[in-house]
Amino acid sequence: MSEEKAEGNLQPADAGAAPVTTIAALHRHEGERITLRGWLYNLRESGKLLFPIFRDGSGAVQGVVPKAAVSAEVFERIRGLTQESSVIVTGKVRADKRAPGGYELDVEGLEVVQRVAEDEPYPITLKEHGVDFLMEHRHLWIRTPRQASILRIRAEIIKAARDYLDENGFVLTDPPVLTPAACEGTSTLFPVDYFGDPAFLTQSGQLYIESTAMALGKVYSFGPTFRAEKSKTRRHLTEFWMVEPEMAYAGLDDLMVLAEQFLSFVVQRVLTRRTLDLKVLARDTAKLEAVQAPFPRITYDEAAGMLGEAHAKGLLENKFIYGDDFGSPDETYLSSQFDRPVMVHRYPAAVKAFYMEPDPQNPSLALCVDVLAPEGYGEVIGGSQRVSSYELLKNRIQEHNLPLDAFGWYLDLRRYGSVPHAGFGMGIERVVAWICGLEHVRETIPFARTLNRMYP
Ligand code: 4AD
Ligand code: MG
Repeated sequence: MSEEKAEGNLQPADAGAAPVTTIAALHRHEGERITLRGWLYNLRESGKLLFPIFRDGSGAVQGVVPKAAVSAEVFERIRGLTQESSVIVTGKVRADKRAPGGYELDVEGLEVVQRVAEDEPYPITLKEHGVDFLMEHRHLWIRTPRQASILRIRAEIIKAARDYLDENGFVLTDPPVLTPAACEGTSTLFPVDYFGDPAFLTQSGQLYIESTAMALGKVYSFGPTFRAEKSKTRRHLTEFWMVEPEMAYAGLDDLMVLAEQFLSFVVQRVLTRRTLDLKVLARDTAKLEAVQAPFPRITYDEAAGMLGEAHAKGLLENKFIYGDDFGSPDETYLSSQFDRPVMVHRYPAAVKAFYMEPDPQNPSLALCVDVLAPEGYGEVIGGSQRVSSYELLKNRIQEHNLPLDAFGWYLDLRRYGSVPHAGFGMGIERVVAWICGLEHVRETIPFARTLNRMYP
């Protein structure tokens, strides 16, 4: 209903009693005269018939304009109208089974708010453009229905993630973005000059929410995180958004249960609430319907075995060396072997972060888990149980050549009532890419920041 309340009174002079609504709400107006405020997405002309396609941010709808049905003035105004001109249009809503959204508009009146000049046409036409050109025009590219659907799904994923955590006893606590030390290794830090002192953009809110978890029990953070990634893969951004739950009195098994419940909830929510957008993207939704807890669990050792076999069979080019972290092709292979996300746990501690609790059964392994999305999408969640011993954590910080003085407060958490605790981080963009079925994460955020791009 909210679409219908917040309208101003911008209406064409000839609108009469045609209430302003949105394309997404047309189903509530079948057979009625309504007003839409949007932009001309495309126009097909065939003699005495015009077929303008309008978009208004909530969706797109095709209009039908027979010459005989409107005034000569309105017909001429629409004929030759330039792409992306802003328009306010009135017409009658007609159900049409063939229409993507289920409705068409029999246009009766149209007012141009701003006409795009003929000699400076909208740069993105309906023909194919190269990705570089589109990224250069990202401020306009987001208007195309496909991109708008991706952004709506992104918003739904974020809302679902927050709803799940809010409804399951997690308190949102916001960590700082400006930080004095590294969380995820020193090679991907973005330095900032903090009044003459070195500081860094945060790589993860984790260290801070470990602290808020000791204060509030179950917490989460959601915010932008930064990695000076020199890699140009389809999965890496330099600025991305992460949701990070953290639980006091919890171990790796609790974390895996949370991860599978949480991720299934998010996927099923998008399936029920963003059906039309998934259709715009031509997403195979049967693959998403399969994403239901419980998820398969395999150890790093088992995963390494699968990679060895795949290489022997010629399915994987590179030979996987036991003890290494998985590369993108390895993750792609592993995740394509399952119909739902697979949880790979207990990696060698040597390839993982300093804060991970060792496995008491085999201290060379970390009590950690990576969740790999199916269809070759790779890691979408990374998490672990955290080191709870003061001595061990202090040694780890020193072994990793991290500045001990910057971690004094973090060590305090092990000095004053240390408890087993665990958490994970889920990268929003990777989840959007997977749920939308996209090739590359650059389309999953309004303005992607990558190794080579800071514009627009
Ligand atoms: O595995 P990561 O590095 O884990 C952490 O940062 C932990 N401190 C999180 C925690 O335990 N609270 O990152 C977590 C997730 C990855 O699984 C991935 O989805 C995403 O963040 N991610 C990236 N997404 C886009 N571009 C990048 N450069 C990313 N790096 C990580
Ligand atoms: Mg990771």
